[in-house]
Amino acid sequence: MASESSNETSRQWEALLSEGDAYHRNTDDPGELRRCSRMTRKLRFFLRQTGLRPPADVFEFGCGNGNQLIPLALAGYRCTGVDVSERALKNMTDSLAVLGKMLGRKLFIEAVHADFINCRPEGLFDLVFHVGVLEHFLDTHTRHSYLLHMFDLARPGGHVVHAVPNGVHPLRALQRSQRWSYEVPEMDYSVESLAEELVSCGGQEVRVFPWNMYGYELIRPQVPIWRKMRYYAWQLLPFEWLPRRLSSVEGYWLAGFARKAFPHGASAACE
Ligand SMILES: C[S@@+](CC[C@H](N)C(=O)[O-])C[C@H]1O[C@@H](n2cnc3c(N)ncnc32)[C@H](O)[C@@H]1O
Repeated sequence: MASESSNETSRQWEALLSEGDAYHRNTDDPGELRRCSRMTRKLRFFLRQTGLRPPADVFEFGCGNGNQLIPLALAGYRCTGVDVSERALKNMTDSLAVLGKMLGRKLFIEAVHADFINCRPEGLFDLVFHVGVLEHFLDTHTRHSYLLHMFDLARPGGHVVHAVPNGVHPLRALQRSQRWSYEVPEMDYSVESLAEELVSCGGQEVRVFPWNMYGYELIRPQVPIWRKMRYYAWQLLPFEWLPRRLSSVEGYWLAGFARKAFPHGASAACE
């Protein structure tokens, strides 16, 4: 499928990832490959919350070089990912091929080079998710079209996960003024606005969890040791146990979970 980006944000990503080292993994470095194959706490949290087990069908919008899909594929999930960046996708498939050789296993991810909005894969998915993509779509109408398309690709009763940086953490303004993150602009989500967006796009059983407590501290160029220790201490708690009022502000990321409605008259029993 040809990549024909339908909006400026996607074109910016395509250009950003076509050069430089952003989202590029060295496939000659076995240590780096081993690291990217680990099931992270974030992924374990997504899987706990959705209750999905291998070989469920998962789809990632804006999968980049496979930070999420590689560990999921290794764990036995059937993975499909779409990205506008051909270079990032090639890096994902190259990493997977080298990992497969290292482990003596055949590993596969269906990688689609396209703008997600034009992507019509075959069949529906148990989980459709993105991590750090939709917040870059500043226009509400465009963003909602992409989110609605995520629901389109989920099976009835399936899960949609919308994971974005917390837009209200204490260093947000500084992060922006000092350009401590990507050049592609992003909007500021809160627990409430993320939940509202999922509901307004038809999401059922919507829940939002802040996670990565004090993670924003680590983006500073120099981090005092006590701040690092506070960050690591908080990582010991499962995300579900974080005190809500504190984590809504101090969590660096937010994850919104929703289920796709069943058609009228159908129920979970018909699955
Ligand atoms: C911040 S990166 C996140 C990458 C990946 N989700 C991760 O967590 O490692 C955003 C990704 O979204 C991709 N992207 C942006 N707009 C897209 C679109 N319209 N369709 C598909 N991918 C897109 C970019 O190319 C980039 O790889």
